[in-house]
Amino acid sequence: MPNIQFQFVRNLLKGASSDYQLSGCAFAPSNIALCKYWGKRDTVLNLPVNSSLSISLGDRGTETEVRCARQDRFRLNGRPLEKHGQFAVRLRRFLDLFRENIGTPGFEIRTLSNIPTAAGMASSASGFAALVLALDRLAGWNLTGQKLSMLARLGSGSAARSIHSGLVQWHAGTQDDGTDSFAERLPTTWNDLRVGILELSASPKPVGSREGMNRTVQTSPLYVGWSRQAAIDLEQMRTAIAEKDFERLGSTAEQNALAMHGAMLAAWPPLLYFQPGTVAQIHRVQTLRADGLPLYLTIDAGPNVTLLFTAQHEAAVQEAFPDVQPIHPFGRS
Ligand code: PMV
Repeated sequence: MPNIQFQFVRNLLKGASSDYQLSGCAFAPSNIALCKYWGKRDTVLNLPVNSSLSISLGDRGTETEVRCARQDRFRLNGRPLEKHGQFAVRLRRFLDLFRENIGTPGFEIRTLSNIPTAAGMASSASGFAALVLALDRLAGWNLTGQKLSMLARLGSGSAARSIHSGLVQWHAGTQDDGTDSFAERLPTTWNDLRVGILELSASPKPVGSREGMNRTVQTSPLYVGWSRQAAIDLEQMRTAIAEKDFERLGSTAEQNALAMHGAMLAAWPPLLYFQPGTVAQIHRVQTLRADGLPLYLTIDAGPNVTLLFTAQHEAAVQEAFPDVQPIHPFGRS
């Protein structure tokens, strides 16, 4: 079955240039989905049921350096990655797709991440995107953004979006061969947009997104309704972005995320990613909003809450949440 992945990569790299370097180094931002990706129509090629839309987190993400080596050696934040750990196994399998093309038995990878890993903060997204960008530099393929996005997608779906900065849409595509499922940056620059990370937990989530998605698709009676609504949400968000209508963007994003968690809860066995602290933060955001603060939230497959607001209200948000880490997705002006 994974042969399908090998074939996909081979076709994608056909005709690419090659200009080997000693090492390839690249940064990719983490991203937070405003319209979520939840559910695969093809689990091998990582093709999503619905299109999704995200905001990349500026300078928060992963920096990766890759070199050819006799055998694989991975270092994450200065420490060797446990050889038989889940992440190392996943990484080795992903790299298997490129060994023949690059002509090396192994890769030495050093990666630095400034976001918590595997706690629903999209660290695998920036990790696989940075790795694909670094491989592109190492081999000198000089691939287009579309192709880089499709390669990153094989590592982790949301990584397809982390290839780009700013506001990004991942087109689900309709073809079975996966060649029309890639992410693209939207043309809007929205300097006033702010994202606030509230870190409740940096521990790995109990059920990974792959297993969680499959369980939701297969057992949740609410899944079909959620995915239909997600297509409508995405159009609403695109309009809100084009018009810089923050309230419309924030409210649609919050509803999209909570509806996704509703569908997860209705799965069997139920998927409950919230912790008591998550629920407390949801109440807090709702109370502040009722008091007039234009503040919205989104939550991935984990306990951490991400706030959405604008520059105008950054001070008020920091006062209400002293632990918040405000992020300027379009850089500091
Ligand atoms: O890319 P994955 O397989 O880790 O799935 C990401 C799923 C969510 O973070 C919950 C939603 C999204 O679109 O990023």
